[in-house]
Amino acid sequence: MGNSQKDRAVFNQKVVELRDQMKLGGGQKRIDAQHEKGKKTARERIEQLLDSGTFQEINGFMKNRHTDFGMDKDKLLGDGMVAGFGKIDGRRVCVYAQDFTVMGGSFGEIAGAKVAHVMDLAIEAGVPVIGLNDGGGARIQEGVFSLAAFGELFYRNTQASGVIPQISVILGPCAGGAVYSPALTDFIVMAKGIANMFITGPEVIKTVTGEEVDAETLGGAGTHADVSGVAHFAVDSEDAAFATVRKLLSYLPSNNTQPAMITDLTDDPWRMDTELDTLIPTDPSASYNMKDVINRVFDLGSFFEIQETFAPNAIIGFGRLAGLPVGVVAQQPNYMAGCIDINASDKMARFIRFCDAFNFPIVTFSDSPGFLPGVSQEHGGIIRHGAKIVYAYSEASVPKLTVVTRKGYGGAYIVMASKHIHSDMVFAWPGAEIAVMGAEGAVNILYRKELQGKENAEEERAKLVEEFREKFANPYVAAANGFVDDVILPHETRARLITALELLRDKKSTAPAKKHGCMPL
Ligand code: HXC
Repeated sequence: MGNSQKDRAVFNQKVVELRDQMKLGGGQKRIDAQHEKGKKTARERIEQLLDSGTFQEINGFMKNRHTDFGMDKDKLLGDGMVAGFGKIDGRRVCVYAQDFTVMGGSFGEIAGAKVAHVMDLAIEAGVPVIGLNDGGGARIQEGVFSLAAFGELFYRNTQASGVIPQISVILGPCAGGAVYSPALTDFIVMAKGIANMFITGPEVIKTVTGEEVDAETLGGAGTHADVSGVAHFAVDSEDAAFATVRKLLSYLPSNNTQPAMITDLTDDPWRMDTELDTLIPTDPSASYNMKDVINRVFDLGSFFEIQETFAPNAIIGFGRLAGLPVGVVAQQPNYMAGCIDINASDKMARFIRFCDAFNFPIVTFSDSPGFLPGVSQEHGGIIRHGAKIVYAYSEASVPKLTVVTRKGYGGAYIVMASKHIHSDMVFAWPGAEIAVMGAEGAVNILYRKELQGKENAEEERAKLVEEFREKFANPYVAAANGFVDDVILPHETRARLITALELLRDKKSTAPAKKHGCMPL
């Protein structure tokens, strides 16, 4: 009896000791080095991201089983990856974090097995998965085993896509093929100053192309948020990154079958903001800020913008209408007149597809002067990229509501959730101009020959422009033909959207049976 009591104490003590060892990752010296770089450790990060005390680590006893390059001498518990599950705002999530204190967070066979397991759990449990990235990429010493591990992760990212929300947070290096896991997830949050992402780093670039660039300029948070569009959020610190993930999750269902995350009413559904009535300048070439429209229409303070600094001619984000989360897509007349270019096309199309996958109704504010003209746009494939918007809207089966605030010209009007590609309800504000093109352009084309050489050409041209505007540049031709469901006063927009959404809450629409479409990518 005495002996077994003693044995039990020894057994228990061993668990406690191993857990302490596990928590140290690559050891105190490397933890200190991580802190000196201004970075938290993997476990500290998880603690901060999740609700306090909810994290349950799994597979922390796994060790690498490789022997080459002296790896038989240094076998650390957990092997550079911390994985498990916990809660955020009381909701279940799975999480994993690369531990930079163990061989620079490099990704080997064991890290791969742990992430694969936690991803499988997340997919089957139907909960979001969040990956915290800070590592040197494929573990060089493990060769093809590391590559296989990455492949398994990419495969799971793809399988999970559209089933559970996947969020990547980049808090250190993320280089080489390692970038493709975040790239396959739904949202990327990067912390400025510590995060970078690139396929080939500055040294390789210098050798191959001769270009000299530092890591921050090449693939820092600012670069990916402003220029490449790879990152959805560039934030100032790790703390801000975790706050962003928590906020993002507050809008997202846990999986594609779950109901929307409706909150209690925080704003009067019937609030009529009369400032909207004078917000749009009467001069069609003058700009205004579409975010002023969005912020006044949605529940106050609810608009959460995504990819704010990438392609600012388009606006995307989540908002709430009477507590119901919706996807917001809009053009920004303040930037490039709201023209659609390659980057804006990619930005909008991808977001529309996310909304459709996770059952967010889509509300579109269209002020569509056209696609951006230019050789670089044409040669960059604006045809192929712009087609993505049509495809994404046409394919989306969620409720789709559109408000044409001002211009609705030509192809750019059609692609922005027009009735013609099956938006459920299209409203136009009284100043909307729905036509093939603006009055000036139309007259220049239609009457060029007629006006050429005429003495009073300018006077006549002005008259023709006025006539065209009167006849076509208004919402009533479209409304008379059922292409616009109603012409509404701007201050009525909020109430009209809320009632339309109430009608369409249980919308069912069927598409022809197919394996999947062939989206123009
Ligand atoms: C094994 C690695 C490693 C790796 C870093 N370490 N990267 N060990 N495999 N990929 C080790 C270092 O040897 C070092 O060990 C420790 O981690 C910390 O690294 P440092 O270099 O001291 O840290 P730092 O100066 O902060 O630089 C971090 C770094 C750099 C920028 C990540 O280490 C680096 O460039 N690593 C190589 C990145 C890379 O090329 N990876 C392969 C990418 S290709 P000691 O014991 O000395 O402290 C790839 C293909 C994937 O990922 C394909 C998927 C399909």
